[in-house]
Amino acid sequence: MGILALISLLSLFSGATRAVHPAQHISHSAILPHAEFAIPFTAKRPRRESKKHALRGLRGIYSKLRTNTVALDGGAFDTEYLVNITIGGKNFQVIMDTGSSDTWVVHTNFTCFDLSGNSIPAAACEFGPAQFDPADSLTFQLFPNVTFFVRYGSGESLSGPAGFDTVTVGELSVSKQEIGIPNHNAFLGDGVSEGVFGLAFPELTSVWNTTTAQNASGSNHILYNPFFLNAIQQNKIQNFFSISLNRPTFNQQAHDPFDPHLGFLAFGGSVPIPITDTAVTVPIQRYAANAAHIFVPSDAANATFTWYTVDIDSYTFPGSSTVPTTNNNTILDTGTTLNWVPTAVAVAYNAQFSPPATLDSDLGVYVVDCNATAPPFSVVLGGTSFAVDPRDQIVPQANHKDVDGNTICVSGTQDEGLDVPGNIFTLGDVFLHNVVVTYNPVDDEVTVAQRPHY
Ligand SMILES: *[C@@H]1O[C@H](CO)[C@@H](O)[C@H](O)[C@H]1NC(C)=O
Ligand SMILES: *[C@@H]1O[C@H](CO)[C@@H](O)[C@H](O)[C@H]1NC(C)=O
Ligand SMILES: *[C@@H]1O[C@H](CO)[C@@H](O)[C@H](O)[C@H]1NC(C)=O
Ligand SMILES: *[C@@H]1O[C@H](CO)[C@@H](O)[C@H](O)[C@H]1NC(C)=O
Ligand SMILES: *[C@@H]1O[C@H](CO)[C@@H](O)[C@H](O)[C@H]1NC(C)=O
Ligand SMILES: *[C@@H]1O[C@H](CO)[C@@H](O)[C@H](O)[C@H]1NC(C)=O
Ligand SMILES: *[C@@H]1O[C@H](CO)[C@@H](O)[C@H](O)[C@H]1NC(C)=O
Ligand SMILES: *[C@@H]1O[C@H](CO)[C@@H](O)[C@H](O)[C@H]1NC(C)=O
Repeated sequence: MGILALISLLSLFSGATRAVHPAQHISHSAILPHAEFAIPFTAKRPRRESKKHALRGLRGIYSKLRTNTVALDGGAFDTEYLVNITIGGKNFQVIMDTGSSDTWVVHTNFTCFDLSGNSIPAAACEFGPAQFDPADSLTFQLFPNVTFFVRYGSGESLSGPAGFDTVTVGELSVSKQEIGIPNHNAFLGDGVSEGVFGLAFPELTSVWNTTTAQNASGSNHILYNPFFLNAIQQNKIQNFFSISLNRPTFNQQAHDPFDPHLGFLAFGGSVPIPITDTAVTVPIQRYAANAAHIFVPSDAANATFTWYTVDIDSYTFPGSSTVPTTNNNTILDTGTTLNWVPTAVAVAYNAQFSPPATLDSDLGVYVVDCNATAPPFSVVLGGTSFAVDPRDQIVPQANHKDVDGNTICVSGTQDEGLDVPGNIFTLGDVFLHNVVVTYNPVDDEVTVAQRPHY
């Protein structure tokens, strides 16, 4: 997923929400029958000190929306988008993530670990207040003798029991949804979110036919349908969902840990957000991988669907004609804050800020003067060019100041490494603030539409 932990600056910079599996298992993703009605959703997450504010915001939104749309709030200084879900009758605030596939919420009885595996006090994991106690849910059924185990690109990992329960988002309810209830958690939380709501493909789910997480492997991977595909299979919704993520203001990002109503999630319908005529539908590309995690092209016989992956025709910005900007293997990930592009693109683009963004050797990311002028940047998909607002390219870091106490800013477009097979790039919230994306994991396509200037 794209889970980004706000607490740690470094975690912000990695493709933190992307799930990493012990090994890839080759199978065809489930293709599901169609269904009928719809529910929209949206949200980012509040930090605990802003909860009342958050609730007010949500109530205001709910009263104005159609019943099948939910509002998203901005959390962790707007590096994450939160959605309010119900499991077994209890509410949770969770990170909405198109970069992973599991829905999980933290177990009541959990042990917290640091990223090196040392046990630390539970409070250090910084989960929000709600926890899942299987004994409290009348509809929960344990999946015996298996383990839920997920690792994210940030180094965070969680494991514990898996089971089935009724999961509700907005007015869309799915019964017998497989979920994780991790109780061994190395997690960098934000004090508000209590789990993750994953919207990617079955291949990336994280339940294993073993009683110890260490033994999870491709040979004991038990795939399941994530929430959205189950909703379709249970004839509750049409084949697509759409998401809009609003751009936070600089001040909100720099100072306000919770930002209510920062977007929408709509199931089987469109988000209530205007779009322009600049729009295109492109195929979702597949991957396959061998045991060494080497991904093979979309047309390989053993390729399968994993993330919402698209081919990038090009990136355009001043000077872009001097470097190769075409690349495949780029995922659309609501759970990642920044864009993570091939090295050549990152180097050439960051040089165009005035003054230029510079690679900080300690942080390993491009930092930039908060008052710099950001160059224009467009993403060309399916022959159609989508502009990214320059305001998205200068991202303040709320929890990090320079020696003089000034806010540090990072570039919205960072270096993910060379464009070689097996490397995966990300268009995160920096890009997604500018478009409405409709995800169709049944027909395997996404539609991207440019939003008008806002
Ligand atoms: C989540 O939604 C429920 C039901 O609408 C509501 O009672 C609850 O207060 C919401 N929680 C948050 C944190 O917004
Ligand atoms: C909580 O978890 C610990 C460690 O897994 C276990 O020893 C203990 O029995 C559990 N407590 C309850 C009340 O389930
Ligand atoms: C789970 O494992 C235990 C011990 O190996 C075994 O006795 C039990 O039958 C298993 N349960 C299921 C449902 O497979
Ligand atoms: C787990 O593995 C055991 C032993 O190989 C097998 O009997 C069982 O059916 C598997 N369970 C699932 C859910 O795949
Ligand atoms: C895990 O794998 C190790 C090494 O292959 C094996 O000895 C052990 O029995 C396995 N444990 C479980 C619970 O499957
Ligand atoms: C999938 O096929 C490609 C060749 O098309 C091969 O390199 C790769 O190892 C295969 N993966 C698996 C898991 O068999
Ligand atoms: C990207 O993928 C397309 C097929 O989707 C393929 O035609 C093209 O050669 C690939 N480009 C690169 C640079 O790998
Ligand atoms: C940026 O400009 C504002 C005024 O526009 C000023 O208050 C602030 O100190 C400047 N920040 C930096 C890092 O120069």
